[in-house]
Amino acid sequence: MVPETWPEKDAAGKGPERSCGQVLEQAAARLRAAGIDGARRDARLLLAAALGIEAAQVMAYPERWISDAQGAEVERMIVRRARHEPVSRILGRREFWGLELHITPETLDPRPDSETLVAAVVARIAARAAPLKILDLGTGSGCLLLALLSELPAAEGLGIDLDPAALAVASENAACLGLAARARFATGDWAEGLGGGWQVIVSNPPYIIGREIEGLSPEVAEFDPRLALDAGPDGLKSYRKIVPQAARILAPKGVLVLEIGAGQGDAVCRLMRQSGLAAIERLADLSGTKRCLVARPG
Ligand SMILES: C[S@@+](CC[C@H](N)C(=O)[O-])C[C@H]1O[C@@H](n2cnc3c(N)ncnc32)[C@H](O)[C@@H]1O
Repeated sequence: MVPETWPEKDAAGKGPERSCGQVLEQAAARLRAAGIDGARRDARLLLAAALGIEAAQVMAYPERWISDAQGAEVERMIVRRARHEPVSRILGRREFWGLELHITPETLDPRPDSETLVAAVVARIAARAAPLKILDLGTGSGCLLLALLSELPAAEGLGIDLDPAALAVASENAACLGLAARARFATGDWAEGLGGGWQVIVSNPPYIIGREIEGLSPEVAEFDPRLALDAGPDGLKSYRKIVPQAARILAPKGVLVLEIGAGQGDAVCRLMRQSGLAAIERLADLSGTKRCLVARPG
């Protein structure tokens, strides 16, 4: 995508004062000074968004002028990033499993690590074109459910969240991706009150120890919703509710796929066994951390 017209100086040499390349260098320097990792990459992404072009084009047209209005837009974005707001939150969108998702302050910014759950489910479905009932507990932006529906054309799913504002975002994402006919969303406290027969239950619940949240990077502690992070004094609060509920409502040959935090595997496996689940597998994410547990009815 290249803009049809770049701003130009007039015949008298009056007009825009700064070139694309100059703005990029200044923005990157400001982000570096603010301690942002990957300052130049982020400056490029934000500049591209302000100009309405692909990030690669920023590098291809360093000599082009940018208008005052575009400069002001870049400036607003750079100020936000210098305060450690993630690029995805500034742009209001994030790519997950190849899908473009809208995100808001009420939704977790989906993490690439959570794609481990999607891969785990897809790998365990023998007949991918067969009808399937999927439940996503703590759906947030809807990323897990929508990624699964995009892979499994006859599947239908329900996404549950405590926060209605997150569910509004998930519904909008389903509509934008053409998946609304197969995705329902409802407020709820995990699976409380739901009936059984779910062939797939996925969940990426909050799993951070409450008092440790302030010590996380500002990108997480200040910009991800607390409801999406805080799992009480030992980080296991959500699993204590989700695991027995899921064990009750899984179909006999169903599969439960849960995201876990680093070091939580043993404790969550114990909860699974106590609830009668079996055949437990531990799967690593791309960086080698055990990120996902898979279990089946015993
Ligand atoms: C870690 S986020 C995961 C969001 C999304 N599934 C993802 O992977 O990006 C956890 C989600 O659980 C929701 N949540 C927290 N407590 C809940 C509860 N008691 N019942 C249902 N959802 C809850 C939060 O609002 C948040 O959207």
